[in-house]
Amino acid sequence: MAKTRHVWGTKFGIIMAVAGSAVGLGNFLRFPVQAASNGGGAFMIPYFISLFLLGIPLMWIEWTLGRYGGGFGHGTAPGIFHTMWKKNRFIKYFGVIGIFGPLVILIYYTYVESWTLAYSWFAITGKYASAVTESSMSSFLSGFQGLEKNSFFSNLVPAYTFFLITFLTNIIVMYYGIKGGIEKLCKIAMPLLLICGIIIMARVLTLGAPDTARPSWNIANGLGFLWNPDFSALKSAKVWLAAAGQTFFTLSVGIGVILTYASYLSKGDDVVLSGLSAVSTNELVEVIIGGSIIIPAAFVFFGPAGTEAIARGGAFNLGFVTMPLIFSKILGGAFFGCVWFLLLFLAGITSSVSLAQPAVAFLEDEFNISRKRAVLILGVAFFVLCQPAIFLLGKGVVNELDFWGGTFCLVLFATVETILFAWVFGMDNAWKEIHHGADMNIPSVYKFIIKYVTPFFLLTILGFWAYQEWWPVILMKNVPETDRAFVLATRFALITLFIVLSILVKIAWRKKRIE
Ligand code: ALA
Repeated sequence: MAKTRHVWGTKFGIIMAVAGSAVGLGNFLRFPVQAASNGGGAFMIPYFISLFLLGIPLMWIEWTLGRYGGGFGHGTAPGIFHTMWKKNRFIKYFGVIGIFGPLVILIYYTYVESWTLAYSWFAITGKYASAVTESSMSSFLSGFQGLEKNSFFSNLVPAYTFFLITFLTNIIVMYYGIKGGIEKLCKIAMPLLLICGIIIMARVLTLGAPDTARPSWNIANGLGFLWNPDFSALKSAKVWLAAAGQTFFTLSVGIGVILTYASYLSKGDDVVLSGLSAVSTNELVEVIIGGSIIIPAAFVFFGPAGTEAIARGGAFNLGFVTMPLIFSKILGGAFFGCVWFLLLFLAGITSSVSLAQPAVAFLEDEFNISRKRAVLILGVAFFVLCQPAIFLLGKGVVNELDFWGGTFCLVLFATVETILFAWVFGMDNAWKEIHHGADMNIPSVYKFIIKYVTPFFLLTILGFWAYQEWWPVILMKNVPETDRAFVLATRFALITLFIVLSILVKIAWRKKRIE
């Protein structure tokens, strides 16, 4: 007998949930660093082109595929792909990427999310107040991560405690289900996140020029540093790839999570406007708020050369070293530091619950397991899988997980689902399905874009990657010698996880045939 599936409570709730999945650490940490290091304002050209040719079409494709699959009782890609292409026995195994990818991201994402919770506590309790130089703040972070023993931390206990709190909070939210857990969380967390973002943005934009000896280190030039276009950057393929990658990551498309969220819609629910609302909320938060915080703030305190060096050090450096240092230099810094990390935590948790959802939905839908049991099973697996990310942080494990889960699988999955949608399901069917229950019509040029431009763009990215990167990646050319054994072990673990998920798909389908 078919089980009744969960449903969302309100339209506002589902938009907040999808926007919550999209708005994440990527909006506040990844985006400004990508923009600053890939041509500044000029980065926005490939970024917006990617948004219109990849991001928005994929958002519509995933909302539509998810709602379609939900109508047949499937909330994850194996079932949804199988429903769309019944004659192909293998397509459901491609769908495994839509459970595997989010699970892999979830493993390290939750740990980073727990740092934001820890740091908001450290900010308000003054734990890092004595770290007043860049090197001491870096030591604070390394000590906390267990990468070194120092006067701040002698073991991993604080980090592990905050990880446990974050992990359990995620599990509890999922335990209460779609409407009672995720929707409720996002309806509170998203407005709160906007308030925190506006507070921090307002504080940064009113910093003026704090160093009177260097009046040119002011906020206007800080914004200019990020936004003044360097058009020569557009000649580099790397900049275009970075822009496409950021679009995927920030919108949470190509991961599989939106398919699952959309599978809880009813047939008549609008997907056109809802998809656009989720994209607009994400872009507002990313470009306006995310673009006005870390880079301009770093500029007024560290100047152009300093900011460039900091941005080269990566997003974690900016978020967990530079920002607390900046807050330690301003009045009310403890409060602003706490709000900054709370903002990151809210952004993180509304994304991590979405990353866990495909695995839970898979167990519920394909094995007929109750939600609570599915969450408990996932909880145990998720807990075990997180341990290498925690204990082997400095050994290249997290980079490896991020590459396969957070980059490669996204593009591959998006390519498969776009071709399936536009070519196998057929553009006429797809167009009808998208517009079912829609309050507005999509401009018809998108029929052409979804059928030709989006898959071409995706295949080009994959082709480029295969041409430039495949061998160096496989041979671990960019991995330090000392980390290679750990990276290899991570690869074996990932292959094993993929095989286990594929076997589960096989068992589920065999069971269905017998029943
Ligand atoms: N979309 C999420 C982020 O930007 C994963 O962090």
